[in-house]
Amino acid sequence: MRFFDQYRRFYETTGTLLKPNRFQQRWRIIIDENKAVLRGARVLDIASHDGRWSFAVLKAGASYVEGVEARPELVARARHTFPYYGIAQSAYSFLCQDALQYLAASRLPQFDIVLLLGFFYHTLKHLEILENVERTGARLIIIDTGVAADEEPVIRVGLEDANDIRNAVDHRSSGAGMVPVGLPSREALRLMLDWIGFDFGEIDWRDRVADFTECEDYYSGARGTFLAARRTL
Ligand SMILES: C[S@@+](CC[C@H](N)C(=O)[O-])C[C@H]1O[C@@H](n2cnc3c(N)ncnc32)[C@H](O)[C@@H]1O
Repeated sequence: MRFFDQYRRFYETTGTLLKPNRFQQRWRIIIDENKAVLRGARVLDIASHDGRWSFAVLKAGASYVEGVEARPELVARARHTFPYYGIAQSAYSFLCQDALQYLAASRLPQFDIVLLLGFFYHTLKHLEILENVERTGARLIIIDTGVAADEEPVIRVGLEDANDIRNAVDHRSSGAGMVPVGLPSREALRLMLDWIGFDFGEIDWRDRVADFTECEDYYSGARGTFLAARRTL
């Protein structure tokens, strides 16, 4: 049985397109394959949406998860779902806040693992985010993101509609509707992660996934899952 078939409420609360096989394959690659490192970990879930990956990390054995999500309606969904599935209140917290603001706090809570899932192409503040994520003390950052095809270290800048619940928020409350975002290439990710002292590796989806239904972007390489581990001296 697929992981979220047991917790079907997430099929109703998602603000992204409902694609059960995509959910399942992402769960396998991002969560299930990293069960050993998630066990007992304190996890920060940036752009936690309806709480699905926060929920999955707790089910994988994490000791605590903090979700940060800018859209109040999504935070409300997470806060309803967790008690519904009997998750102890002490195991999680959902903050309704712009991730940039959260990460800019002078005294940042400490975490073992940070999730940047489906978020790193809905911002143009990549380096600022990574520099602050480094301050959480995390030993591992899991990044799941769209990537630009360029071989050089570039961030392709564009605009997206902040009225779409899946997208960037209008962090300046400019009322403009369209906000600037950037799609990083793999080399850009590597360069920025190296700058904050993390080694970078990509999880090979093609090696691990047989059914790419609803996951065509992972197959083509337009999206990828990356593990960044803090370098030790
Ligand atoms: C495509 S969804 C990804 C959801 C989930 N993390 C996943 O990977 O399935 C992007 C999420 O980022 C949130 N978001 C966008 N900009 C944000 C910001 N500056 N701070 C916090 N959340 C943000 C959106 O509201 C949305 O829930």
